[in-house]
Amino acid sequence: MPTDPNSRRQFLAFLAGSPLVAAAGIDTDWLATLSGSAQGDALLHAADALARHGTHPVLHAEQPPLIAKAADALDVFDFEPVARQNIPVAHWGYLMTGTDDDATIAANRAGFDRWVLKPRRLIDVSKVDAHLSIFGTRYASPIVVNPLGSQKGFHKDGEVATAKAARARDHLMVLSTVATTSIEDTIAARGGPVWFQLYHQTDWSITKQMVKRVERAGAPAIAFTVDLLGGSNRETMIREARKDTRECIKCHLGGAPLPGVSGRVDDRDNRRKPNLVGYEKLPPQLEKGTPTWEFVDRLKQATGMKVLLKGIVTEEDAALALEHGVDGLFVSNHGGRAENSRRATIVSLPEVLKGTGGRIPVICDGGFRRGTDVFKALALGATAAGIGRPYIWGLGAFGQEGVEAVLAIMHKEFELTMKQSGTTSLSQISMRHITPA
Ligand SMILES: Cc1cc2nc3c(=O)[nH]c(=O)nc-3n(C[C@H](O)[C@H](O)[C@H](O)COP(=O)(O)O)c2cc1C
Repeated sequence: MPTDPNSRRQFLAFLAGSPLVAAAGIDTDWLATLSGSAQGDALLHAADALARHGTHPVLHAEQPPLIAKAADALDVFDFEPVARQNIPVAHWGYLMTGTDDDATIAANRAGFDRWVLKPRRLIDVSKVDAHLSIFGTRYASPIVVNPLGSQKGFHKDGEVATAKAARARDHLMVLSTVATTSIEDTIAARGGPVWFQLYHQTDWSITKQMVKRVERAGAPAIAFTVDLLGGSNRETMIREARKDTRECIKCHLGGAPLPGVSGRVDDRDNRRKPNLVGYEKLPPQLEKGTPTWEFVDRLKQATGMKVLLKGIVTEEDAALALEHGVDGLFVSNHGGRAENSRRATIVSLPEVLKGTGGRIPVICDGGFRRGTDVFKALALGATAAGIGRPYIWGLGAFGQEGVEAVLAIMHKEFELTMKQSGTTSLSQISMRHITPA
């Protein structure tokens, strides 16, 4: 946000003309008059939060002070500025980037406003059971700790801290292929099974070894991510990386392949990505192009684990997934960092559910920040809801304790929404509890 008064006012005038602000239901004429007044400056902090989060429901007149400990947080947003302070700017850019103008990040948030709650009264909600059962395993919450790469770039304990938090709160965790902790160490820290997210390798013989390794380690399910196969344009990430005065090459041997960022693009070194190393050099079986449904069939044949696809957003692809024997789906646009569709995942969810006809579990992720968001997804028919950035804000702010607090806050909000809706188990949550806004 600009600091000098003139450009701050210009910024306010810009916000007044922003379709995002209008979509959030804010009176843009009123913002326009404020842009010429001192009073307007007091609202800029709030407007900044709004621009970043889409529809943050509370416009604080002033930015609340940074929290000193995890227990002080009132909502998941309280962790974000603390994490931002702790995380190097290039890594912050990697975390927060979307694609192009980042509009799909905002769309994911705004999508939740298309649905409103229909609370029910006078039902005994003194006992609520919000546990999730999926593929025969029970978890305390339907909030899934989604795969998110390079977590030691946000906190020294990385995925181990996340796994310990998932253990403490009993949440399902999915580990990224490009994690900075191995699947074996993550399962040990979680004290139980962890799902694995798969990025295919250009050599099928390596992918196959990776799949076998993950299965041997005890993962019951693998989620193949299909939303980056066409590439993505992450401008915010590059802009933030350019602000970092450190030499990227010191940690990322071979350099981060970003224009204008220090380092080389060749000889990338995967020392920090333990799931990518340690495989036998077998005769290569190079992929002929980017994966198609044929790859999904091959993957199914190569493993006894459940195979899910992550990144499905249409009825057509959901139906094809069923035809190819896929065991579950993530409705996901990679947190607005794949294609810049400007379509919220909560908007895609109903058509994906139409494609699956309720025959396989469907997890929805993208912009989930509140218990009410989770409730809306489940009411529409999702099995569970995944979160990405919020638990990393917790991790970056306070390590394991921060992740635990984020999970606890979102779950508490979700249980509260269940009670307010007169529901005492996940199976009772239905379309009767929400209505179009
Ligand atoms: C920094 C970052 C790294 C991610 N890394 C992966 C990854 O390695 N594999 C994957 O399938 N999804 C990855 N995702 C996507 C998340 O699994 C998830 O779909 C997304 O973060 C959900 O949106 P949210 O961040 O708004 O909650 C990543 C997301 C972020 C923000």
